[in-house]
Amino acid sequence: MAAMARALPRPGRRFRWRIWASAGGARGAAGGAAAGPQDYDLLVIGGGSGGLACAKEAAQLGRKVAVVDYVEPSPRGTRWGLGGTCVNVGCIPKKLMHHAALLGHMIQDAHHYGWEVAQPIQHDWKKMAEAVQNHVKSLNWGHRVQLQDRKVKYFNIKASFVDQHTVRGIAKGGKEILLSAEHIVIATGGRPKYPTYIEGALEYGITSDDIFWLKESPGKTLVVGASYVALECAGLLTGIGLDTTIMMRSIPLRGFDQQMSSLVTEYMESHGTQFLRGCTPSHIRKLPDGQLQVTWKDGISGKEDMGTFDTVLWAIGRVPETRSLNLEKAGVNTNPKNQKILVDSQEATSVPHIYAIGDVAEGRPELTPTAIMAGRLLAQRLFGQSSDLMDYKNVPTTVFTPLEYGCVGLSEEEAVARHGQGNIEVYHAYYKPLEFTVAERDASQCYIKVWSLLCTGDAHGRNPPHLL
Ligand SMILES: Cc1cc2nc3c(=O)[nH]c(=O)nc-3n(C[C@H](O)[C@H](O)[C@H](O)COP(=O)(O)OP(=O)(O)OC[C@H]3O[C@@H](n4cnc5c(N)ncnc54)[C@H](O)[C@@H]3O)c2cc1C
Ligand SMILES: NC(=O)c1ccc[n+]([C@@H]2O[C@H](COP(=O)([O-])OP(=O)(O)OC[C@H]3O[C@@H](n4cnc5c(N)ncnc54)[C@H](OP(=O)(O)O)[C@@H]3O)[C@@H](O)[C@H]2O)c1
Repeated sequence: MAAMARALPRPGRRFRWRIWASAGGARGAAGGAAAGPQDYDLLVIGGGSGGLACAKEAAQLGRKVAVVDYVEPSPRGTRWGLGGTCVNVGCIPKKLMHHAALLGHMIQDAHHYGWEVAQPIQHDWKKMAEAVQNHVKSLNWGHRVQLQDRKVKYFNIKASFVDQHTVRGIAKGGKEILLSAEHIVIATGGRPKYPTYIEGALEYGITSDDIFWLKESPGKTLVVGASYVALECAGLLTGIGLDTTIMMRSIPLRGFDQQMSSLVTEYMESHGTQFLRGCTPSHIRKLPDGQLQVTWKDGISGKEDMGTFDTVLWAIGRVPETRSLNLEKAGVNTNPKNQKILVDSQEATSVPHIYAIGDVAEGRPELTPTAIMAGRLLAQRLFGQSSDLMDYKNVPTTVFTPLEYGCVGLSEEEAVARHGQGNIEVYHAYYKPLEFTVAERDASQCYIKVWSLLCTGDAHGRNPPHLL
């Protein structure tokens, strides 16, 4: 539930945008926008989950709004349209391919339910990828139409700050545009990390920015990392029948309940995903036949080992997109350790009329629904007289591994650390989904866990369990 606080009244200043001619270039606007002076109440940098939600909400409240969005191609050259990470290289293609993998599993179950399916079943990557990519392209188009319908001006430009109210954009042809606005929202998200210190990592590896846009099957794949992206990608690749290995240097799903995380990886292992535990890659070489030879250090045995793969997927975390924004020109402060933008409970940065939402903001969950809600609430506070703040506590999340894992609140480890072992009670239950019974599926990792605070309070000396 959102906590309540009073939003500060904003001065009613208006700002103008001007079109700048680059050296030797003609005056004109990018993307066919008409030349001439215009005012913006709100300028949003980044057309992803948070930015689009904020812009649309502000426009619905009758404000003059512009969104700038630009996708820097991945090192591999993959590019995509409007909508940000979730739509193009995150939740949407991931969930659809996860579904493709689950369907494969269901086809295996189908004969128990009377379906006669010819064996062996085959999966066609090309067909799946094309269908998923076409759906994503339709979403890109849908976002453009929604902006147009709400009269939000869209600029396909890469933005950086000139001063506290002005942003410069470079359009595809190199043309420069200056846009100014009363309020500016930074919603530029993040991009996958590359371990550039590893020889061959950038040259031969890919990331989640590429995997969903591959036209050909990735084949035998090594996934490096052990969090959401790594486990989800490895799970779906295994599910569609590819030889898949996860290389993890430490524990799976850091920050999640470790008992539950182990159940997730045990299930994956029993369904074909291979795990190299305690290992870190040291270099990648391309062999004459095109395969990638990966050398790694086994931290447990201390030995070096080697394997060949068709694809190496880095899933080792993400970096916020703040480096090219020229934040210092506007006086917006970042955390020097991770380059995320420092924000307060109003989503305001160190500059009161510049805000940051979504993955780019410090201390926020990197999830689409929170970015969307934060964007909507921010627009309402700025223009709709609402004073509701985004409440980031107890945000539920799901890891879309072959056995899906949903959770909310503190893990058992965090609960013990916060409240003490003697002050909590943990409830465990195995369960068997009904559909597993007929298909005789193994349900040994289907598990529910709830912890509650032990406390005295009601007439019986105990409160009912608190689901935190
Ligand atoms: C593989 C994967 C799977 C995921 N699955 C889920 C899931 O199942 N559920 C979930 O809740 N979350 C999921 N996420 C996380 C989710 O995608 C992000 O939390 C969400 O997209 C963040 O939204 P955002 O608005 O902060 O930024 P983004 O959606 O990343 O949008 C930022 C936009 O700004 C643009 N931009 C950057 N710099 C500039 C600039 N200088 N000028 C102009 N434009 C710029 C970017 O190109 C991008 O279009 C997943 C992420 C990944 C990588
Ligand atoms: N279903 C969903 O909602 C969903 C799905 C995908 C992504 N997301 C969002 O996207 C965010 C990013 O996820 P992510 O999985 O990319 O990153 P992440 O949560 O930051 O995890 C990074 C993983 O890579 C490992 N790692 C880091 N550096 C490494 C290195 N140099 N060598 C080897 N391993 C390394 C980490 O191991 P250590 O633990 O040892 O550090 C960890 O396992 C998440 O926080 C999540 O909010 C959400």
